[in-house]
Amino acid sequence: MPQVKLLDVTKRYGKVSAVDHLSLAIEDQEMVTFLGPSGCGKTTTLRCIAGFVVPDAGHIFIGDQDVTHVPPERRDIGFVFQNFALWPHMTVYQNLAFGLRLRRLRRDEIKARVYETLALVRMTGLEDRFPRQLSGGQQQRVALARALVLHPRVLLLDEPLSNLDAKLREEMRFEIRELQRKLKITAVYVTHDQAEALVLSDRIAILNRGQIEQIGTPQEIYQRPKSQFVASFVGLCSFMEAHVEGTSAERVLVRTEDGLAIEAIAEGLSQGQAVTLALRPEFVEVLWTKPAQNKNVFPAQLMRFAYLGENLDCWLKVGKWDVRVHLPAPRIQTLNPQLWVQLNPERIIVIPH
Ligand SMILES: Nc1ncnc2c1ncn2[C@@H]1O[C@H](COP(=O)(O)OP(=O)(O)O)[C@@H](O)[C@H]1O
Ligand SMILES: [Mg+2]
Repeated sequence: MPQVKLLDVTKRYGKVSAVDHLSLAIEDQEMVTFLGPSGCGKTTTLRCIAGFVVPDAGHIFIGDQDVTHVPPERRDIGFVFQNFALWPHMTVYQNLAFGLRLRRLRRDEIKARVYETLALVRMTGLEDRFPRQLSGGQQQRVALARALVLHPRVLLLDEPLSNLDAKLREEMRFEIRELQRKLKITAVYVTHDQAEALVLSDRIAILNRGQIEQIGTPQEIYQRPKSQFVASFVGLCSFMEAHVEGTSAERVLVRTEDGLAIEAIAEGLSQGQAVTLALRPEFVEVLWTKPAQNKNVFPAQLMRFAYLGENLDCWLKVGKWDVRVHLPAPRIQTLNPQLWVQLNPERIIVIPH
């Protein structure tokens, strides 16, 4: 049975539908991230699950209970805020103990739980510090511990790493994921950072204008995006506009607007249909000499490149299209080499309009 279920949830602010008829089921022990651009409704959806926001329509279930109108403190959730939101006048210990006191746990039980949770986030020994005496990363660990100390059924995190520097952010990703697995806790994680979502998630829900544009495993989202929005939001992608010229079994022949004939693999398409072709950089093979066969092979010009260390980030012109690829640095010295690209039919993502 799903641990968290949203059924047709809608929340409007004036004319804006922050959440728009959104439905979703999150399984026990699953970690789902909401990924999308700023303003797409990630926070509002998460706050609906937490109970800080009451939807205008729809239902929210935690376990088998309809919690749509249950206040946050009775929902069995832990919440980690973007800005940590620690109580500045309380020590680390008091920050963690506060929620347990409200629940009227015995003193020795509170103490045991606080120390156990501090150990879990590697903060043992810092219990008497005040938040201002901690680094950003330590404050975030305390915020996480304060949510976990309640042993909630569901952990909700709203961009918990966005106030940390890049290196720490990367470390903490793995820590949060390991902790979630170890505690076997169901979690919903909001982020606008695709790398974070790819590392952390069992499934990623791509949000756009208050709706789920696509939900799937990181691999599904990356390899089989269902729309241009998803393809361009997760990973680097180049696009070509085309229409279907012929189909046979799972093979399709498409013709780009500027006349390139490209073979791809896709099902359920019909003659004349407009499609967008999406190409991941690593799926485009770059050749320095013209191959003997010419199927899906096109001349390419190098327009621009940027140094990335081992690789160069390259902008190729193929027909009238910009195609991004990564090439080993030593091979490119000037802007004028004659290149060819070969497109593997299996790797071309065909997005019907
Ligand atoms: N309290 C609020 N009052 C008015 N508009 C809001 C409020 N909260 C969110 N919104 C609007 O709802 C939309 C979704 O916001 P939000 O859920 O915060 O997006 P995200 O977290 O994805 O950036 C935005 O257009 C935002 O301006
Ligand atoms: Mg937000």
